[in-house]
Amino acid sequence: MQTIKNYVAQNKQRFLDELFELLRFPSVSADPAYKTEVLKTADFVAQKLTDAGADKVEVCPTAGYPIVYGEKIIDPAKPTVLVYGHYDVQPADPLELWHTPPFEPTLRDEKIYARGACDDKGQFYMHVKAFELMMQTDTLPCNIKFMIEGEEEVGSNNLGLFVEANKQKLKSDVVLISDTSMLSMENPSLETGLRGLSYLEVEVVGPNRDLHSGVYGGAVANPATILCQLIASLHDEHNHITIPGFYDDVLPLSEADRAALNKAPFDLEDYKKDLGVNDVWGEKGYTTLERTGTRPTLEVNGIWGGYTGEGAKTVLPSKASAKISMRLVPNQQSDKITQLFTEHFQKIAPSYVKVKVSAHHGGEPVVTPTDSVAYRAAQKAISESFGKEPIPTRGGGSIPIVALFEKELGIKTVLMGFGLDSDNLHSPNEKYDLANYYKGIETIPLFHKYFAELSK
Ligand code: BES
Ligand code: MN
Ligand code: MN
Repeated sequence: MQTIKNYVAQNKQRFLDELFELLRFPSVSADPAYKTEVLKTADFVAQKLTDAGADKVEVCPTAGYPIVYGEKIIDPAKPTVLVYGHYDVQPADPLELWHTPPFEPTLRDEKIYARGACDDKGQFYMHVKAFELMMQTDTLPCNIKFMIEGEEEVGSNNLGLFVEANKQKLKSDVVLISDTSMLSMENPSLETGLRGLSYLEVEVVGPNRDLHSGVYGGAVANPATILCQLIASLHDEHNHITIPGFYDDVLPLSEADRAALNKAPFDLEDYKKDLGVNDVWGEKGYTTLERTGTRPTLEVNGIWGGYTGEGAKTVLPSKASAKISMRLVPNQQSDKITQLFTEHFQKIAPSYVKVKVSAHHGGEPVVTPTDSVAYRAAQKAISESFGKEPIPTRGGGSIPIVALFEKELGIKTVLMGFGLDSDNLHSPNEKYDLANYYKGIETIPLFHKYFAELSK
């Protein structure tokens, strides 16, 4: 631990400067306007892997953005860790709410503010620096492979094909990912599950053109009103989702599992205060931790239609739309849920409008094992660097590729995230605490050490 700490202390400023360089690339995968920048980011990541000591570094083309691959095989007989991360980021909008520009990383109160600071540039780059540390101090105890993709935030559509086509290359004993949250620096934790996702877009179409809302209003259905009614009907008075069959495949949690989950330190008052809400909301009969970690949900991510510009315009819009996502839990299946939603939404549409439903991306939920060598290695690593046993938690977010690694490669994942839920992921003023960045770089070599030791 002393060697690790010394190396980090000696290279602190450079580790930060390099992360800042990475954060300056606006690698927004959702917006084609950033294409050149996303491609440059991939090259930068490849260069940094080479500099850190990786062999066979490749920028592998896909039908979308490339996947950066690199490896260091010290001995084929030793265990292999596959590190996954993503160099793409979410769009920075709404720009006006950022205190400093999203792609000009800024240090304030010991926190790095930038889009991607936590999700996931700050987190995957810890692995690159931890790898450098192990190479420089001659302490890499196992083989390591890196797979850093550029389309996570848009559904990883091309990663599945890459994984399928490169099974031998990606062969390893465990997937290690830092792209999730922990409870706090005082209460380190390890996520042991991720929710799945079904993402759709709906459009309600009324009259064949926008109408004067005085001339026609009251006589023709307003698609915006109907869309709101349809969306409102998707939850009942207990905030259960009303789509028939939606809960059919949900595996109930045992009372013991529920009790264990609710033991995690969680202060509802702090939670409300942090979010500026007077009360929380959710499915009746479940706690906040259960609602985000273990229950499926349906959310409106965006809704539009009619006039939304400055001032007033009297108009009865011809169309209204919404982007809807459903978070899924074991053993729900994304395709099935997408189909159930589509059928239901078509069915509840009244005769005076037409509805169109189109599917975006999806992903399957996962639960990661807590009795594996790799999980125990993560536990030991965190215990040593934080001085406290990590608490197992269930995360509410999704990383669809985790289920795919299991299906295609037969490899389980360890989710060793160092972010905080309050890091403003996908939101203005995303941040990552310096302390978490450096702590991550210190903890990762310990994971490799214990993984190699416990695998013997
Ligand atoms: N890193 C997040 C997922 C995450 C965040 C998991 C915090 C657990 C805790 C990831 O980049 C992400 O945002 N995933 C998307 C899904 C994707 C298909 C767009 C999500 O969860 O919305
Ligand atoms: Mn992420
Ligand atoms: Mn994300």
